Amino acid sequence: MNIKRIATLAGAAAALALASGCSSGGEAEAPAASIDPQTFTDSLFAVMSSDRAVYTQKVVNRLQNDEKVIKASEHFEDDKALPLPAQMFRFGSEMVSEKTDKFSYQLLSLWPINKQNAPKTDVEKKGLEFISANPGQNFYADEELGGKKYFTAVYADKAVAPACVTCHNGHKDTPKKDFKIGDTMGGVVIRVPVS
Ligand code: HEC
Repeated sequence: MNIKRIATLAGAAAALALASGCSSGGEAEAPAASIDPQTFTDSLFAVMSSDRAVYTQKVVNRLQNDEKVIKASEHFEDDKALPLPAQMFRFGSEMVSEKTDKFSYQLLSLWPINKQNAPKTDVEKKGLEFISANPGQNFYADEELGGKKYFTAVYADKAVAPACVTCHNGHKDTPKKDFKIGDTMGGVVIRVPVS
């Protein structure tokens, strides 16, 4: 129990160091080499999902739906609006991919507004189906892509605020119009190369 807790804390520290782009050598990097891939992806997801929920609840939902000050829009630059939560997530993911090849992540769905966000590999599809059918559980698998081996984790992306549901259900490109608060709307796929 104690050992597991220590490993989890080490994982969280390493994930936080990576998530915040901290690359100062020495102590912050030491645990990264020794944590197992699942602890690593679980910790990354804790950071990603918290940031995502905070942006949706404290920025988008508050300013758009409650106080009606400013909208969120796909064309946020032209519309002088807020970026969508999914865009914020993708910008982060793109910036991370320029900084490290130790992991990569994406937001996908079986019911995507943007067809680019549909699952592409068998593991992605199986993972999204699993998290939809088994609320509260994550999906983990080994995957081989282009001759390289990966540990791939899929976590449920839930409708945490009314804005998630109203925007998706009302979007012209959505294949699903009956999302409810608390539903799994898609999944975060985190991939870690393993040797
Ligand atoms: C104001 C509208 C809006 C809000 C609010 C919003 N979304 Fe989205 N969401 C979109 C659009 C548009 C896309 C497609 C973005 C792109 O081009 O990749 C998207 C993408 C996604 C995707 C990737 C699959 C897809 O549909 O393309 C998921 C999963 C998702 N959103 C879940 C959520 C959740 C959960 C919330 C609340 C935390 C949320 N969204 C809030 C409009 C919205």
